[in-house]
Amino acid sequence: MSKSTESWGSRVGLILAMAGNAVGLGNFLRFPVKAVENGGGAFIIPYIISFLLMGIPLLWVEWSMGRYGGSKGDHSTPFILDNMTKKSLWKYFGVFGIFTNIGVMSYYTYIESWTLTYTIKSLKGDFLGMDIAKVGQVFDQYVDISGGVNIPIIALLAFTVTLVINIYILSKGLSGGIEKVAKIAMPMLIAFGAFLAFMAFTMGDTGKCTDCNSHIGMDFLWSPQYDSLWNPKVWLEAAGQIFFTLSVGMGTIVCYSSYVKKRDDIALNAMSAGWMNGFVEIVLGASVVIPIAVGFLGLDWVKENAGFMMAFKTMPYLFDQWGHVISVIAGVAWFGLLFFAGITSSLAMGTPWMGFVQDEFDWSRNKASWTLGVFIFLLALPTIFFFEYGVFDEYDYWTGTVSLVVFALAEVILFAWVFGMDKGWDEINYGADIKVPKIYKFIIKWVTPLFILVIFLASLFTPKDNDWNAAINGEWVLDKSSIIGKILHIGEDASWLIDGSLTTIFYVDMSRLLLLGTFIGLALMVKHASKLRKQKLNK
Ligand code: PHE
Repeated sequence: MSKSTESWGSRVGLILAMAGNAVGLGNFLRFPVKAVENGGGAFIIPYIISFLLMGIPLLWVEWSMGRYGGSKGDHSTPFILDNMTKKSLWKYFGVFGIFTNIGVMSYYTYIESWTLTYTIKSLKGDFLGMDIAKVGQVFDQYVDISGGVNIPIIALLAFTVTLVINIYILSKGLSGGIEKVAKIAMPMLIAFGAFLAFMAFTMGDTGKCTDCNSHIGMDFLWSPQYDSLWNPKVWLEAAGQIFFTLSVGMGTIVCYSSYVKKRDDIALNAMSAGWMNGFVEIVLGASVVIPIAVGFLGLDWVKENAGFMMAFKTMPYLFDQWGHVISVIAGVAWFGLLFFAGITSSLAMGTPWMGFVQDEFDWSRNKASWTLGVFIFLLALPTIFFFEYGVFDEYDYWTGTVSLVVFALAEVILFAWVFGMDKGWDEINYGADIKVPKIYKFIIKWVTPLFILVIFLASLFTPKDNDWNAAINGEWVLDKSSIIGKILHIGEDASWLIDGSLTTIFYVDMSRLLLLGTFIGLALMVKHASKLRKQKLNK
């Protein structure tokens, strides 16, 4: 419980901040790549179904949990969850709501810092006249992926600056910091995105190769293919993207909405922010990288080379094909857009920690934000120094993929089954400015939990080579990409030392230990906080 009087300044500010939270690098870098890797249009239907049956319900659940907790004076998931049940174990699930944000923030802010550097580089015209290989090299040198332990000085400096900007804004509070930034960043982002999408639409056939046509890229992403409905892997990826892009299962939305006033609408607000994210992702996100790359390099090249590094290693070269002047404008628009998308999300990731320590330990906003800064800085260092040893991917996998599913499952079960669906439904509808379709009462109670449960089990036990038929009809052999396969390093040599030098597995295991340690540390803080609460009550 806190004496916090912090709250959102206006409805527009709240919606933009929430949309800014959701709209992020996920929309422009992760979505297009996931879509290409999963067959383009084949991805779209599982994606939309996951949005309707899992994304939207989770948005309502999280917004209402947050507002409910906020009305009791709680702004962090452990104690918001705790408020909804008599069983004290639930609050430890709430640790995920802080942990995920801290984990993701540490690698996310690093990528965000690349976008800042690249905005400046584009503005300076650094990429003009470079060929594609050279542009790629600039990036490799920047993050210093050349083997061994490296200290990429400029990247480290840019990261520090980016982090300090984030922390400074966080220290200014919700309405004084985050909301102000969102009000500038979101419109800018839409304007930059619309400009780039326009360029992509109008470029059409460039004649650089037989299928060098941006429209082919768009068709590839948008023409639905129904056969994918039978491919569990596509479902897993689509659902994972819904989680990441909407920021559900992270605790971030719960935290943001705990600052919404008791009587304010959440039903419509949740939809406004959620659909805005969908628009930015499916319309703008899909209109930039892939179509432009197909326009100059062809669909086959894109299918083979799709990866989120493309944004940095390829785009500046492609922009230059439009001539030097437009190249500078497009570069600034693209990396500026990514920076705005990134910062409004990383700010959101900072708030759960802030809410937690301010509520429980009476820390000032300054102390809360600067401790966060130190924490994130330390946690990010391994991803920067050991970038090419897969540390980065480990963070993304455990904190950006697995932990969301676990937390979302816990949340929806708590909401629909422990707190109770009738009470939950009243919470969603209280003060609502729209009529929430009644069917969602059923969906939240049955469909969403089952949907997430199936996803979780399927990720835990993914069969070898994603061959589900073989697994069901014969022996169930785990794939190395399944959660269990990852933990046990199935199909890999798990030794830490080979010929006297440390292996990638060593770095991977160390990053896992670090993340586990972070989780345990946060859980101990929660335990301590609840002891303090009891003492206060007894006084
Ligand atoms: N939704 C954001 C994106 O698409 C990422 C994010 C994760 C934001 C966690 C907040 C919390 O990039």
